[in-house]
Amino acid sequence: MCGIVGYFGKRNASDILVDGLRRMEYRGYDSAGVACLYDGEIGVVKNPGKIKGLREKVDASGSGVLQNSIQGIGHTRWATHGPPTEVNAHPHLDVSGHFVMVHNGIIENYKQIRNGLSQHGIECVSDTDSEVLVQLIAYCYKGNLESAVSEALKKVKGTYGIVVMTDKEPGKLVTARCGSPIVLGLGKGETLVASDAAAIMPHTRDAVYLEDFDMAVITDDGVQMFDLQHSPVDREVTEMDWEEGAAEKGDYEHFMLKEMFEQPAAIRNAIRGRLDYEMGTSVLSGLDFSPRDAALISRILVVGCGTSMHAGMVGEYAIEEMAGVPAEVEQAAEFRYRNPIITPTDFVVAISQSGETADTLAAVREAKHKGAVVAGICNVVGSTIARETGRGVYLHAGPEIGVASTKAFTCQVSVMLMIALKVARTRRLPLHEGAEFCRWIERLPELVEKVLEQNDAIKSIAQKYASCDNAFFIGRGYLYPVALEGALKLKEISYVHAEGYHAAELKHGPIALLQEDTPVIALLNNIPGKEKTIGNAEECKARKAPVIAVVTEGDEEAAEGFDDVIVIPECPPSITPVPTVVALQLLSYHIAAARGCEIDQPRNLAKSVTVE
Ligand code: G6P
Repeated sequence: MCGIVGYFGKRNASDILVDGLRRMEYRGYDSAGVACLYDGEIGVVKNPGKIKGLREKVDASGSGVLQNSIQGIGHTRWATHGPPTEVNAHPHLDVSGHFVMVHNGIIENYKQIRNGLSQHGIECVSDTDSEVLVQLIAYCYKGNLESAVSEALKKVKGTYGIVVMTDKEPGKLVTARCGSPIVLGLGKGETLVASDAAAIMPHTRDAVYLEDFDMAVITDDGVQMFDLQHSPVDREVTEMDWEEGAAEKGDYEHFMLKEMFEQPAAIRNAIRGRLDYEMGTSVLSGLDFSPRDAALISRILVVGCGTSMHAGMVGEYAIEEMAGVPAEVEQAAEFRYRNPIITPTDFVVAISQSGETADTLAAVREAKHKGAVVAGICNVVGSTIARETGRGVYLHAGPEIGVASTKAFTCQVSVMLMIALKVARTRRLPLHEGAEFCRWIERLPELVEKVLEQNDAIKSIAQKYASCDNAFFIGRGYLYPVALEGALKLKEISYVHAEGYHAAELKHGPIALLQEDTPVIALLNNIPGKEKTIGNAEECKARKAPVIAVVTEGDEEAAEGFDDVIVIPECPPSITPVPTVVALQLLSYHIAAARGCEIDQPRNLAKSVTVE
C-alpha cells in the first residue's frame, strides 16, 4: 500500500526520492508525488498513475527547487478516501503553502478535524483524510515544527506514518509513527526515512525502526528521537541483512518469476540450522519455547490473511496430524472482531510476510490482550508484528517484491512444518519419525527444483488455457489449502475468475458453472482420499470441463482420461503442498503472461495491506 520516503543530505533529493518510490512500487499504488525544499521555496510535483510519469514531470519541471534541493519527501498513494487524482495525491501542502507532508495510514476522525479547521477559515482542497493533518500541523505551529507535529498528533485518532517539512525551518524533516511503519536509514552525511526498507537499502544498511508514538527530527546534526511528550527515546540501530541486488529483477522478466525460481534457495535459508536430527526435532530459538513450554500448549491458533492464511491452513493440518494438538486457522480480521475464546495455554501464531498487515496486527494485539502466548512468522525483519510479538520465526526468504506471494508461501509452510514437528516431538511422535521428517524438510528445496524444471511444459499448458474466463481448483486434505492458494494466484495476476474448492464441495453448487471452456485444475497427488478426488475430477470431465491433473510421479495413471498432466515428485502428504503449489504458481504466471497482464503490480492490489 502507500509508501513514504524522505531524504536530507548532500545529494540531489528528487533523484533519491523518485528512485525510492520506484523501489516501493511493488507495494501497489495509483498516484505518486514528491516535494522538495530549496532556497526557502517548496516545489511539489504529483502524478496520478505510474512513477515513470512522475519522473518525466520532475525532469520537465525546470524548477530550480527540484533540480537543486538536498531535502525532500515523496509518496506513493493507494487510494482510500477519494479517487487517484492529482489533488488527492501526496505530498499535501497546507493552505499557506509553508508546510508539506506525506502520510500513510488512516485519520479516523478526519471529518471532525476538517470541520474544526473550517470554523477557523481553513478549507481542505482534497478528498483525503490525510490533508487535515498538514493543515492541523500548520495551525498548531508556533515557531517549532516538532512541537506543532506532536501537538497535532495528540488530536488525531487512527494510524499514521508521516514526514513533514516547512520552509520556515529549512534543513529539518520531522517524522512520526503510530501503526504505520517508519524506518530511518543512517547514511554518511545523509539520512533517509521510509515506510519500507526497500527504499533505503541502496544507500545504507544502518536502520532504526520507530516505535508507535515515536517522533524523529532529522537535521544536519543527525537524528534526535522523542515521544509525543518530548521525552527523548533511544532506539537501537540494526543492520539490514538483505543481500545486494536482492530487490532487483536481474535477468528475469518479472519479480514474480525471479521469486518463484528463488524458492529452493529461500527454503534452504528458512530451514538452515533449524533441524536437529539427533533429537528428531526442530530448533526454533526465536519461539523461546522449552520442550516443557511446548508440551503445555493445549491449542494452536493461526491467524493471517490471503496467502499467509493458506500457509497457516497447511500448518493446521500438520499440527493436528503430527502433534495431535487441536489447531485452528482464522482469517485475522474475523478473529479480531468476533471476540475469540482464548485460554492461557493457547499458542497463537500470526503469519505475515510483511509483518505489517493491519488485520493480522490487530489479531496479535487482541490475542496478547487476552493472555495468549503469541508468536510471529514474518519475513520482514524488524516489522511491527515481529516486534510486537517479540518471539517467532523469521523466514529469511529475502525481499519479496512481486505482489503475488510465492517464495514467502513456501517458506511459511516450511516453518509451519517445523513448528508442527517441534510440538509433535513433545507428544507422541517418536524420535526416528521425527528424524525422518527432518530429512523430508531438508529435501523440500530439491522437490521444488524438480517442479521448476517443468517450467516449459507448464508454460505450454498455460498457453492452452490462457483465454479462459473462469477456472476451478480442487483438492482435499493437505491439498485443499493448495487449491485455494492456486486459485488466489490465478485471479491476482491474470484477472481470470478462479475459485478454489474442496473437491467434495464442488457438487454442492459450483459444478453448475462448469462448461467446455472452464478448466478445472484437479490436485490428484497420491495422498489419502486421492481416489475420491479422481472421482470428483471425472464428474467435471463428464460436464465437458477440461481437467488439468496434478499427480504424483510414478502414479501417472491417476491422470488417465484427463486433458493435461503436471507431475509432482513423490513425497509424504504433509510435504506435498510445497512442490504442488510451485506448479500452480508457474501455471498462473504463464497464463497471466500470455494475457499480457502487469504481473508484478496487479491492478487494485497492494503488497502490504495496512488498513483494516
Ligand atoms: C496482500 C498481498 C497478499 C498477502 C496478504 C497478506 O493481500 O497482496 O499477497 O498474502 O496481503 O500479507 P502478509 O504480508 O500479512 O503476508
